[in-house]
Amino acid sequence: MSRCCKLPSLWLQCSRIHSASRCLKSKTGAEHRWLERHFKDPFVKEAKKQSYRCRSAFKLLEMDDKRSILRPGLCVLDCGTAPGAWAQVAVQRVNAAGSDRDAPVGFVLGVDLLHVFPLEGAVFLPHSDITDPDTQNKIQEVLPKGKVDVILNDMAPNATGIRDIDHQRLIGLCLSVADLARHVLVPGGTMLCKLWDGSESHRLQKRLMQDFAEVRTLKPQASRMDSSEKYYLAKSYRLQR
Ligand SMILES: C[S@@+](CC[C@H](N)C(=O)[O-])C[C@H]1O[C@@H](n2cnc3c(N)ncnc32)[C@H](O)[C@@H]1O
Repeated sequence: MSRCCKLPSLWLQCSRIHSASRCLKSKTGAEHRWLERHFKDPFVKEAKKQSYRCRSAFKLLEMDDKRSILRPGLCVLDCGTAPGAWAQVAVQRVNAAGSDRDAPVGFVLGVDLLHVFPLEGAVFLPHSDITDPDTQNKIQEVLPKGKVDVILNDMAPNATGIRDIDHQRLIGLCLSVADLARHVLVPGGTMLCKLWDGSESHRLQKRLMQDFAEVRTLKPQASRMDSSEKYYLAKSYRLQR
């Protein structure tokens, strides 16, 4: 489970402070352990060095390097975009800011319940629930042709700490993105979907196998080994009527 979502206020404080000793003062045992791990984490250090908003950038970078999800010119919908690390990677890889003058220019639209700080090359719909029909209409209005080539879904609901409930809520979110895909994803398109593994994973996998020609399970190195987090990468979308 992504800790930048599980302990968001702590994560925000610490990403601002950038000093372990100052941040560790007056914290509870659980917060203390989380912060210690956070400051030792090589992906956190590397994210700071490369100016990524969150360590999760390295998950997408690795999955894209291995599985070729993004390329210049593609149009991307990033569901659960805050704080914006995946959007940073997507902007670079689809050339949404037009930094490479010789390559086609892509488009990145990020949606989140939370506020997202602006990012050159990306359009954000903050304070928006992806499951809300109003948000889904707005997404279609904002997209250049009303369609996307790639849907990235790294959403995470507020964790209750009860594994089964959190798992089922996340599967519910993934299934609503699969429903949204039927309206916005181009035939042949790709969907990358984060889940916390559990008893309902097969239901999501079955649904993706129905809608896409190819579905793979991925576990990038930046996804902690002790976490049930994994990703389904679904390629070659079959148009659903
Ligand atoms: C793990 S974080 C995403 C991190 C992001 N991929 C990045 O790299 O910066 C999960 C995000 O999902 C968002 N989220 C959860 N439920 C949502 C919903 N129904 N609609 C939109 N966003 C949602 C949360 O607000 C949170 O910011």
